[in-house]
Amino acid sequence: MNIENKTILITGANRGIGRALVDEALRRGAKNVYAGTRSTLQVTDERVTPITLDVTNTSQIQQAVEKIGTLDVLINNAGIAIYDDLSNLEVIERHLAVNFLGLLRVTHAFLPALKRSQGAIVNNLSMVGLAALPIIPSYSISKAAAFNLTQSLRALLAGQGVSVHAVVLGPVDTDMNRGFEIPKASPESAASGIFNGLENGEDEIFPDPASRSIAEDWRTGALKALERQFSAFVPTSPASAASEM
Ligand SMILES: NC(=O)c1ccc[n+]([C@@H]2O[C@H](COP(=O)([O-])OP(=O)(O)OC[C@H]3O[C@@H](n4cnc5c(N)ncnc54)[C@H](OP(=O)(O)O)[C@@H]3O)[C@@H](O)[C@H]2O)c1
Repeated sequence: MNIENKTILITGANRGIGRALVDEALRRGAKNVYAGTRSTLQVTDERVTPITLDVTNTSQIQQAVEKIGTLDVLINNAGIAIYDDLSNLEVIERHLAVNFLGLLRVTHAFLPALKRSQGAIVNNLSMVGLAALPIIPSYSISKAAAFNLTQSLRALLAGQGVSVHAVVLGPVDTDMNRGFEIPKASPESAASGIFNGLENGEDEIFPDPASRSIAEDWRTGALKALERQFSAFVPTSPASAASEM
């Protein structure tokens, strides 16, 4: 996957990592960048089109599909993170609504376009989806669910020319973790690492120093081997359920 001349949709593109991804996509020569946003967005580059897109809003998702038409790369970046202690189920539901179901709804809606273009889905996930960070357990659960979903989508879509990538982000300096004082990568360097991983065709993309520290173990470890073993159960016949996704 080469970003040059591609059409890309980035959700949650008005700030943080999403905003940096828009700039990085332009730097790499993307033809059109659709910037999903819940608020007004000022843009200066004519290749960027702001698009109203709350990932929990099915009618906005449908309108986005109709407006965009052709799509090569979907980056599911929109996300929320609320500190909690698992005592309030509504907090878990809110995380799942955005970080898991929102990601899945947007993906479903754009799948026909991505199959036509033989495109790519990039899901911005987190190290805390691999091992829970107990100060944000609901967020961790939602990212673990989205990681597991990403593995299934990868296997189900492999025969249909759509690649599916999990971005395992470590701490990045954005509003999301403001006040949590640990070393953080810049959004710009994370965005660059994400596109490098996509262009290299990596299943799991480790775009920052913290996440890169576990990359080698992940790629050669038992869990990756198990994922491959389980994927082999997906039927390859065109009449299978997978072809209807
Ligand atoms: N920063 C980190 O350390 C870190 C680490 C691991 C993973 N990540 C992941 O990276 C992604 C981007 O995070 P970030 O650090 O850039 O966060 P951020 O600065 O808080 O930005 C979050 C973005 O998501 C948007 N968003 C939230 N709910 C939405 C919804 N229902 N529909 C559409 N957009 C919505 C926000 O839009 P509004 O401005 O309208 O609220 C904003 O654009 C997230 O998926 C996050 O979980 C971040």
